[in-house]
Amino acid sequence: MIGWVPYVLSAFIEEVGGPGARREVLLAAGFDAEESFRINAGYADAACRRLLDAACLHFGMSEDEAFEAFAPFFLRRSREMFPAFFAHRPCVRAFLLHQPEVHNTLAAGLAAGQRDSVARKFRVEPMEGGLRVFYRSANRLAGLYAAVARRLGEELGQPTSVRFEAGGPGETECIMAIEVQDLKAQVAA
Ligand code: HEM
Repeated sequence: MIGWVPYVLSAFIEEVGGPGARREVLLAAGFDAEESFRINAGYADAACRRLLDAACLHFGMSEDEAFEAFAPFFLRRSREMFPAFFAHRPCVRAFLLHQPEVHNTLAAGLAAGQRDSVARKFRVEPMEGGLRVFYRSANRLAGLYAAVARRLGEELGQPTSVRFEAGGPGETECIMAIEVQDLKAQVAA
């Protein structure tokens, strides 16, 4: 996994619990207590997953609660750090259709094996009123995808819902139907 995610997650842990919490969670996840993640370097998927698990344990949160709390922070930091990705896509559907490409662009500097592993995680196809997302990753982070997609909808004033057509949020493979209300209203009008 590209270092951006553990970088933002560890910043979030620090914002919620202070530097002590960051150190404790990093240690519990098997990292150095002072690890500073390089955003364009590759890290083992399993280690990043342990970071999330350790954070949930530390704060006594379920995964769902953690994703809901983390999604606004993730988007805020993404906007600050990568404004260009947001600049030309003011609507949820266009942004989410472009999201795998965002990931692949950021993975461009990684070794070939790691690049492929990023590219395999998401595939999207347009559908009426939204899009369909095919997710496949040992990290089981479709719940995070759903939380970020819904949050993006809130921020852009386009209520967005996520329906699992196959598999579920905690599984390594699933298909999500993402429905963006605004678009449906436009189609109906
Ligand atoms: C500019 C916006 C975004 C940036 C900069 C960004 C960046 C990244 C990066 C670098 C990764 C690591 C990929 C890997 O190494 O496997 C990642 C993973 C992920 N991103 Fe994004 N992302 C953005 C938008 C989104 C959006 C809009 C969503 C959801 C709607 C999303 C959902 C996820 C999920 C669920 C993962 C974890 C995948 C896995 O490991 O299973 N991202 N993101």
